[in-house]
Amino acid sequence: MVGSGRTRPACETPAVTSPHVLDDSNLVRAARQQPVSHTPVWFMRQAGRSLPEYRRVREGIPMLESCQRPELVAEITLQPVRRHGVDAAIFFSDIVVPLAAVGVDLDIVPGVGPVVAKPIRSRADLDRLPELTAEHVPYVTEAVRILTRELGPTPLIGFAGAPFTLASYLVEGGPSKNHEHTKALMYGDPELWHDLCARLAQISGAFLRVQAEAGASAVQLFDSWVGALPRADYQRFVQKHSAKALAAVDGLGVPTIHFGVGTSELLPLMGAAGADVVGVDFRIALSDALSRLGGHYAVQGNLDPALLFAPWDALEAKVREIVEQGRQAPGHIFNLGHGVLPETDPDVLTRVTELVHELTAR
Ligand code: CP3
Repeated sequence: MVGSGRTRPACETPAVTSPHVLDDSNLVRAARQQPVSHTPVWFMRQAGRSLPEYRRVREGIPMLESCQRPELVAEITLQPVRRHGVDAAIFFSDIVVPLAAVGVDLDIVPGVGPVVAKPIRSRADLDRLPELTAEHVPYVTEAVRILTRELGPTPLIGFAGAPFTLASYLVEGGPSKNHEHTKALMYGDPELWHDLCARLAQISGAFLRVQAEAGASAVQLFDSWVGALPRADYQRFVQKHSAKALAAVDGLGVPTIHFGVGTSELLPLMGAAGADVVGVDFRIALSDALSRLGGHYAVQGNLDPALLFAPWDALEAKVREIVEQGRQAPGHIFNLGHGVLPETDPDVLTRVTELVHELTAR
């Protein structure tokens, strides 16, 4: 059981690493708690509707289909790197892409999110959810290969949804505020819950591994909605499954980032699930997150994406505060506390990137 303490050491460079990992990049170095030439910066949802060039190339192409076209995936992934000069690219895909790949009938509805045609609520439903292999997602391997070539010295971050967040979409049938069907299943049929999450951990883990083996330098596990659970439920129902997903990249030397929203109370447990970097959302000060984490992990975060709409002076003061607090961390990757909002002025993101680089150059 992964209750407390680490499952594996975080900071040293492993003896064997994937040949693709950009060991000298600031992103990988910060994740490994090594000195950096400036604090690395990237933004969750940096690729997407805030960019006019994204809206142009996506015109008339449904979201899921966009994720299955390697050349388009590579172009969209590169756009924010070219524009903002960020220190990492995040692979353009979606957390439900691996579910669609194994045959789940779902769509990503604009303005809504993933919608599942037939929710999973019974043993028979689970029996129809197969394991994922690399053969299910050839377009991912192909896109990552193109990207590692095109990105040069900039690392690519692969990602997957964590078992709880994927289970929520599958059990509810779509986005949910209260996760009532998910919690009803968790408490009403713990055995089915654990079997579902074990299957999702396999799918998530295999999806991370495909990206890492094809050339990603780091991976992030998104447990976006797990902040809906108290600590005891996280330990009982979730932690070991997220640990299994993260462990799928063990041995490749690819640093892991573990992020969720509203997870102030869960941060040490999310670290203990086996992450090198704990992602921090904007509902807690980075300094408070650091004391909760006890200095064991690098951290990522945590500018409130809504503050990108504030006057520059106020925003600059907030960025400076986060950078200062980040100096106390064993490693800091500057990011937002959640994704870029679609109406964000992209020039502000460029300016924030430049400011963090200036403030932290050494
Ligand atoms: O730049 C990046 O961060 C990479 C791309 C990325 C997308 N989805 C593209 C996307 C990533 C990392 C995700 C992960 C994802 N998808 C999460 C975890 C991150 C988080 O936000 O907490 C979640 C919960 C999803 C599920 C999902 N997919 C939602 C809630 C939505 C938004 C619905 C909407 O239209 O507002 C999507 C669709 C989606 N995924 C879009 C993008 C760019 C918008 C689709 C479009 O542009 O038409």
